Amino acid sequence: MQRTLTLVSFLFFVACSQDSEPVDDYDPARDYFTFSNTSAIVTEHLALDLDVDFEASELRGFAMLSMRRVDPTLSEVVLDTRDLSVGSVAIIEDGQSAPLEFRFGETHAAFGTPLHIALPAGTGDRFDLMIEYTTSPKSTALQWLPPELTTGGKHPMVFSQSQAVHARSWVPLQDTPAIRITYEATIRTPASLLAVMSANNDPLAPRSGEYHFDMPQPIPSYLLALAVGNFYFAPLGDDTGVYTEPEMLDASVYEFADTQAMLEQAEAMFGPYDWGRYDLLILPPSFPYGGMENPRLSFITPSLLAGDRSLVSVIAHELAHSWSGNLVTNATWRDGWLNEGMTSYIESRLMEVIYDEARVDEERVLMYRELLLDLERVPEPMQALAPRLDAADPDGFQGMIAYTKGQMFLEYLEHAFGRDAFDEFLAAYFQEFAFGTITTEQFLDYLDVKLLGQEGAPLTRAQVEAWTFEPGLPEDALIPTSTNLDNAAALADSWAAGETALEEIPVDDWSPQATIHFINSLPDDLAHDRLARLDAAWNLSQTRNAEIGRTWFIQVATRRYTDAYDALEAHLNRYGRGRLIAPVYVALAENGQDRELSLDLFKRAQGAYHPIAVSWIGAALEAADASR
Ligand code: BES
Ligand code: ZN
Repeated sequence: MQRTLTLVSFLFFVACSQDSEPVDDYDPARDYFTFSNTSAIVTEHLALDLDVDFEASELRGFAMLSMRRVDPTLSEVVLDTRDLSVGSVAIIEDGQSAPLEFRFGETHAAFGTPLHIALPAGTGDRFDLMIEYTTSPKSTALQWLPPELTTGGKHPMVFSQSQAVHARSWVPLQDTPAIRITYEATIRTPASLLAVMSANNDPLAPRSGEYHFDMPQPIPSYLLALAVGNFYFAPLGDDTGVYTEPEMLDASVYEFADTQAMLEQAEAMFGPYDWGRYDLLILPPSFPYGGMENPRLSFITPSLLAGDRSLVSVIAHELAHSWSGNLVTNATWRDGWLNEGMTSYIESRLMEVIYDEARVDEERVLMYRELLLDLERVPEPMQALAPRLDAADPDGFQGMIAYTKGQMFLEYLEHAFGRDAFDEFLAAYFQEFAFGTITTEQFLDYLDVKLLGQEGAPLTRAQVEAWTFEPGLPEDALIPTSTNLDNAAALADSWAAGETALEEIPVDDWSPQATIHFINSLPDDLAHDRLARLDAAWNLSQTRNAEIGRTWFIQVATRRYTDAYDALEAHLNRYGRGRLIAPVYVALAENGQDRELSLDLFKRAQGAYHPIAVSWIGAALEAADASR
């Protein structure tokens, strides 16, 4: 079972196995994943004017970029694009418009195509670029859903996923977290549909087919987001609410009822929420992530709708990004742990207050188990929280390491300095770097000033740097434990050994997390008739809890428990969230006999998946091939 891989480690594995030019003068503060020349010129504002064409699966219109030149000798602007057709580029300066020459550079498989725009001599330091463009139906950010792939089945839908480097596949821009822009947009849609963005959505907006948005807070490009569909709104609290198709509205209101409390708790602990409203958009199953922290409007997988609020830590996570990530942003993807690790830490802290410590301990133990699996797979140099990163695809280059090792690092700091002092540190950190970006080195320097440098400080900089720059886990890491999960693991052993009957296991009183741990703790050599009995008694193959399903079907595939293969196929067709399906495909491909079946199932299901999930799973299956 130890060979089970998580989705992201695969990606990393694939990315690393590609040949790449060694970079001798590696600069940790440089973003290696953009073509844009942001040290010479920066975008300050973006104005979009787009038609949403469902027949052609295209966005079509204009992007106007307000530019400020930093380097007076600059003669061209380089923007990131990916599969965009550009009709014209014009410069607007002092109210005068003039066409500009432009050309595309060479295309890179993961980073797209640079767009070179020549600036005429005599251009001033501030001007607008007006770019007329069309997206491609294969835009990696956008999934165009025909009605049958939506929940209601009657209206088409489109939604974006810009992180990490996909914004460039629907807007030509400087696609790097290193700079921030404000934006406005006019979006034209079929009149029956509603458009929403990572901006000032109006819950009362009439359905007019023309929607205007403003985003007055400056954001990095990966937080640009758009969705158009048959969405309706319901409030969750004074400042919070949920958009989704009407078929999922009631279930969403029930499942995410604690969102307002999470928001208020986060403000109490980490300082003001600087963004206005906080709403959720619950998308169809093909949304490739659990959630995406698009500002003011987190995009969320419907696989959280378990009916018992057991999976809402993902909401706490996306909300927490309003501080760690959206307010204070990793300077480059190499510093991703500053987004994801800090967010995972805050997520846990919120879950502890809103629910209880025992539940958070369970989640910590499950994450720790996944981290150990990643540490077996991810090459050592990539196991540092802040590794050298100049070649891999920035989508998930180190598995859950940024998340869980990052969270454990912050728990280690909290433990050393005390919760009160550490909370004060975090609130000050968010204030100090608000609406800015930060590198790991800057974080360490700030930690030095605020905590490490104090007399009698309990930790040294070297101890701290073991986390950020060394592989594995430091020996003095605090290892998560959970009495509930220990108990579940013990029962898995004793049931497998025939010492406890299934009826004696109080599974109805258990959290889904305990059930997951029980399944993961079953011995490798468990006979299939025992699996059959477990499945019959606990109805695992029919579970509507997506995380239990994930865990069960990874085991089904790894153990070749073929009685459940029909249900496994149904699982792969029910969900499009990478985390829930990629490891199942991989477990099948690696069980020694079902590589063809895995490829076949993928071929049949992929039409319903988001392009990002398709490319992950494809890469993961290729890596699985290569390793056999
Ligand atoms: N920002 C991430 C999703 C992401 C990461 C997109 C990297 C592209 C590149 C989001 O906040 C996230 O972490 N989602 C997790 C949530 C979970 C860890 C609670 C997910 O989708 O599983
Ligand atoms: Zn996250």
